[in-house]
Amino acid sequence: MPFSIEDLPQVALPGLNQLHAEEVVMINALSAHAAARADAFGPALAEFLEHLAKHFEIERTNMERTEYPERAAHLAEHDGIDARVAELEAADDAGAWHAFFADELPKWFVEHVATHDTPTAEHVVAHG
Ligand SMILES: [Fe+2]
Ligand SMILES: [Fe+2]
Repeated sequence: MPFSIEDLPQVALPGLNQLHAEEVVMINALSAHAAARADAFGPALAEFLEHLAKHFEIERTNMERTEYPERAAHLAEHDGIDARVAELEAADDAGAWHAFFADELPKWFVEHVATHDTPTAEHVVAHG
């Protein structure tokens, strides 16, 4: 089953829902490219990581500007994914990348949006 935007809770900030939806599409493409050992994987990965960095940066800025009280825990989850990506880059194994994009990252994404992005967006909207 490919990862679907229907799997993700919608948060109170439309701009973030848009970024999340774009990443769902990218994650499915990366899963397929990794499974096929396709040359397109490298450029698609670079594009995804740039997108993810901007996404995490927007959330970090929102949390700091509004002094979101749970920001340390939220940012620690972003750091955890960045560290996993660094491990996978070091291992350079298409099978491991496939498992990450087909299973590990979609599960993380759903859980992270439900437990961190959702309350953070509510806080940001409430605090302007
Ligand atoms: Fe997010
Ligand atoms: Fe987040």
